[in-house]
Amino acid sequence: MSESARTQFIPDRNWPDDKEVHINAHGGGILFHNGSYYWFGEHKIEGKAGNLAHVGVHVYSSKDLYNWKDEGIALKVSDDPTSDIAKESVIERPKVIYNPKTKKFVMWFHLELKGKGYDAARAAVAISDKPTGPYEYLRSFRLNAGHWPLNVTEADKVNQEELDKIKSKKFGGSPSSETMQAPILARDFQNGQMSRDMTLFVDEDGKAYHICASEENSTLHISELSEDFLSSSGKYVRIFPRRWNEAPAICKAHGKYWLISSDCTGWAPNAARSAVAESIWGPWKELGNPCEGINPHNKLGPELTYGGQSTYILPVNGKKNACIAIFDIWRPEDAITGGYVWLPISFEDDKIKIKWQDKWDLSVF
Ligand code: DGJ
Repeated sequence: MSESARTQFIPDRNWPDDKEVHINAHGGGILFHNGSYYWFGEHKIEGKAGNLAHVGVHVYSSKDLYNWKDEGIALKVSDDPTSDIAKESVIERPKVIYNPKTKKFVMWFHLELKGKGYDAARAAVAISDKPTGPYEYLRSFRLNAGHWPLNVTEADKVNQEELDKIKSKKFGGSPSSETMQAPILARDFQNGQMSRDMTLFVDEDGKAYHICASEENSTLHISELSEDFLSSSGKYVRIFPRRWNEAPAICKAHGKYWLISSDCTGWAPNAARSAVAESIWGPWKELGNPCEGINPHNKLGPELTYGGQSTYILPVNGKKNACIAIFDIWRPEDAITGGYVWLPISFEDDKIKIKWQDKWDLSVF
């Protein structure tokens, strides 16, 4: 390691990679494999244009979590304008997990088709033989077509007449009374459930799960993945129906499942939320805002999550119950300048707490 190597996390400040360039991996997720961490995220470009995908998914590697080596573009957008992942599509919140049975690295991300806003609401999958890629794009789809969630109620299964009423209706992605009353789950039963903000989680027994904002962002869905991790097994639950959560991030600590999420206010920050469950299938209990303290750089505290929005919870290798909460500071006017807030999580009296730190290191765990 060079003398200038970093030995601390410094939230919401420029975070240079090995080439002294601010890390470009927004909405990211981190894979630990064979002694190295791999940080995958949205590669953004300058200006508002950077809110669409012009390049693809960027990957960095690190041994210590402070110093990151630029490993290039893991998944490239396509030059073919008819491709799902054409330049100017929306590729958000990529997450990679390793499947020991198939020996493939599997990337999932939120995909929106070029020129179609956020209407497609698809999950997309790509695979590679190496953690850093290149990843081969496989397909995109809505999840769990033809399957009801484990916790469906008879009232959720509305009749055709009710469905016809909302057939061509457009819903927004933030809280609205119209969405509150509409049978979105039943509407999407046949062709699959919407999948926007998403994350992946691999449990101790090797089972993997996809967690996403579904039903026009009004309800989170947790789906078990198939054995090869390339699709959903069809087993899923709805959690916090019509509570409008997005940006889900999940971890397991002290034998429980912990969730951090946000409200749905586009790129603008809002207050973070948290929840706990004994089983991934629930019941999930809301715990409130886990954040404390003020980000001195923008003077924002818990009511606006330090100006950030959750994207991932990283378990630190080799330390028990040591988890890092990762937030993005979105800068939609100049997307490439978006910042990162990494903070340690403490689990206290059945609560999850995240306290602002100007600087910190892994010795806190
Ligand atoms: C909030 C989401 O969390 C982001 O990933 C992104 O989809 C923006 N909305 C777009 O407005």
